[in-house]
Amino acid sequence: MERFVIDGGRRLSGEVKISGAKNSALPIIAASLLTDREVVLENIPRLNDVDTMLQLVKSIGSKINFTNNILHIQTPKLKSFEAPYDIVRKMRASYYVLGPLIARAGRARVSLPGGCAIGPRPIDLHIKGLKALGVRIEVKAGYINAESRHLRGNRVDLQGPKGTSVGATINVMLAATAAKGTTEITSAACEPEVVDVANFLNHLGAKISGQGTHTIIIKGQKPLNRGQRYRIIPDRIEAGTFAVAGAITRGRIRITGCNLEHLTAVLDKFNEIGVVVKVMDDGLLVDGAGRKRATNIFVAPYPGFPTDMQAQFMALLSIIPGTSTIKETIFENRFMQAVELMRMGADITIEGDTAVINGVRKFSGAYVMASDLRASAALVLAGLAAKGRTVVRRIYHLDRGYEKFEVKLRRLGARIRRESE
Ligand code: EPZ
Repeated sequence: MERFVIDGGRRLSGEVKISGAKNSALPIIAASLLTDREVVLENIPRLNDVDTMLQLVKSIGSKINFTNNILHIQTPKLKSFEAPYDIVRKMRASYYVLGPLIARAGRARVSLPGGCAIGPRPIDLHIKGLKALGVRIEVKAGYINAESRHLRGNRVDLQGPKGTSVGATINVMLAATAAKGTTEITSAACEPEVVDVANFLNHLGAKISGQGTHTIIIKGQKPLNRGQRYRIIPDRIEAGTFAVAGAITRGRIRITGCNLEHLTAVLDKFNEIGVVVKVMDDGLLVDGAGRKRATNIFVAPYPGFPTDMQAQFMALLSIIPGTSTIKETIFENRFMQAVELMRMGADITIEGDTAVINGVRKFSGAYVMASDLRASAALVLAGLAAKGRTVVRRIYHLDRGYEKFEVKLRRLGARIRRESE
């Protein structure tokens, strides 16, 4: 296993370019299975999760060529209908192949993803949506066995106990493109990545409208038969993570290639805290030098404050004077970074879905353990600000979702290196 060794206390400065969005790349690679033509995808980040998805689609029959963040992918015919457990357990987003496999071959056998560090991660809404389109689903021996000779359009509501579902919205949308008739998804997720997938599908010849609102209409089509070149959106969570890096080290960094409309709730929080964020024509200037104030964060589905930025802000708020709170409303167990931040000197109390953070003057470097993707980013951010040396272990969690993270940080002046345990 690998770890990061970080010597903290340096103010970051310079410019960083944001990569393509992980949570767009994964469903869009799966969606390319819907056509037998070649698709060229630009701005695809080189991440472990992307490599896992490519391993999966290759096993299904895709021919791929992935260089310089450009992915050529073509699936002339399917040679498998299965997403096996050893792939799905590594990456739950493998279930995005469900819809395309059913659309193209009338059947799919996909392992249940199981839970992960941040929560049980059920897929009941995915199953509800696919069943509404006429898919016969049997869950047996840890696998979803799905079959449908004729997908038919229908009205599907995806309101779940925690609001709506990004994954279920995308999965139903993928299957609905091949259904006979029109599908109306209500209580749909509005995340920018959902919009990106819908826009990509329209490039392939689908007829989708309402993406970005809570009601998405998909007019089913004969198989999508257009190949296309498509550039995916930048990663708003990577952009937010680097903005926190500038703020937590009291540095001054320019973040380019990001879409600021996707970051409104995060920028509002920086303003509340007193971090200067200046909008520029191609991104953001973050100046973390000024006095900062404690604040309260209420995580919510888009366009609210994103759960994927919660851990990073917990690190930042931990060294801001005063008492801040974070209420995590989406996942049941997404405060695991808290105990590791406390090993670095943070003063955090967890009360159910709320973290109460009493700001301390400084982090002290320590050995800490990553537990999930965004928690590992939070620990790196704390290490950058800490006095002394921090070692973040099990950084395979971080490699799932950040491209060249330590390389980008070093270019901003951070003293961080990767080494084997
Ligand atoms: C996507 O996960 C993202 N992952 C997550 O990012 C992100 O945190 C999440 O959306 C919320 O924005 C990808 O896009 C690959 P959900 P997803 O379905 O689709 C419950 C990261 O760090 N739910 O919107 O799995 C679920 O348990 C990752 O990049 C059901 O109850 O999230 C959760 O509490 C982490 N039944 C809530 O809904 C279902 O069938 C939101 O989940 C599905 C979900």
